[in-house]
Amino acid sequence: MPEPDKSLGARTSDEQDEQAAARAVREMFSAIAPRYDLLNHVLSLNTDRYWWWRAARNFRHILRRSGAAVLDLCCGTGDMTFALYRKSVAGVKIVGADFSPAMVERARHKGAGLPMEWVEADALNLPFADGSFDLVVSAFGFRNLANYDRGLDEICRVLKSGGEIGILDFGEPRGLIGKLYQLYFRHVLPRVGTMISGVRGPYAYLPASVARFPEPEEMLARMRRAGFEHAEYTAYTFGIAGLYKAVKRIENHTA
Ligand SMILES: C[S@@+](CC[C@H](N)C(=O)[O-])C[C@H]1O[C@@H](n2cnc3c(N)ncnc32)[C@H](O)[C@@H]1O
Repeated sequence: MPEPDKSLGARTSDEQDEQAAARAVREMFSAIAPRYDLLNHVLSLNTDRYWWWRAARNFRHILRRSGAAVLDLCCGTGDMTFALYRKSVAGVKIVGADFSPAMVERARHKGAGLPMEWVEADALNLPFADGSFDLVVSAFGFRNLANYDRGLDEICRVLKSGGEIGILDFGEPRGLIGKLYQLYFRHVLPRVGTMISGVRGPYAYLPASVARFPEPEEMLARMRRAGFEHAEYTAYTFGIAGLYKAVKRIENHTA
């Protein structure tokens, strides 16, 4: 089997290094932050709400445990965070983190009065101690990291032993539905996105970033290598999106 490309991650153009890619991604999301929610709902025909709800439902066993700590990584304007909150009981600590100040600001505004914390933080260098969380979820954010393996290592580090990871992201559906969807995703969506947001670029980057993202089998192998077990993928809505989930391996220290 060929060695995996350890530098695989998002790029907004060719010839970019990791730092330049991260900067470009942050600027891009900050530029569309004011229209992000509207665009999400229009372009997904409101299916995004169902995907967040369905992803959160997977982790009810953690969200019903008072005292559990949950991180929504790359939280954007907070809709995944709110879906997690709606499934949780009192006493669950919920943190939303994103490296775009404009996104965090909107999340904080939308979540005013709700018991959650908002943090401006880079997913590749998180300001949390080892073993801080029982659950780390990322919705449509992980794909934008400039280095996927380092993203997984960092999530693994901040999870407790036996803690869980959930990565919800776009996929590439196959068959006839796949062909129709690609027409929409590559041609209609970038035009409508640019029209509504007034910003050229991000909505052409979206299909390119999905095409660049590892196939489910490869992504699951990367998760196992990073220290996760029971890694599995569930396709949502014909594979347009899907959820990766896994459990941080419990280290056995007894020789
Ligand atoms: C497509 S949005 C998803 C937002 C939200 N989770 C949702 O489901 O709507 C991707 C988010 O990832 C954030 N992001 C990308 N790379 C990041 C990184 N290295 N650290 C933290 N946030 C990052 C962006 O700022 C953006 O808000």
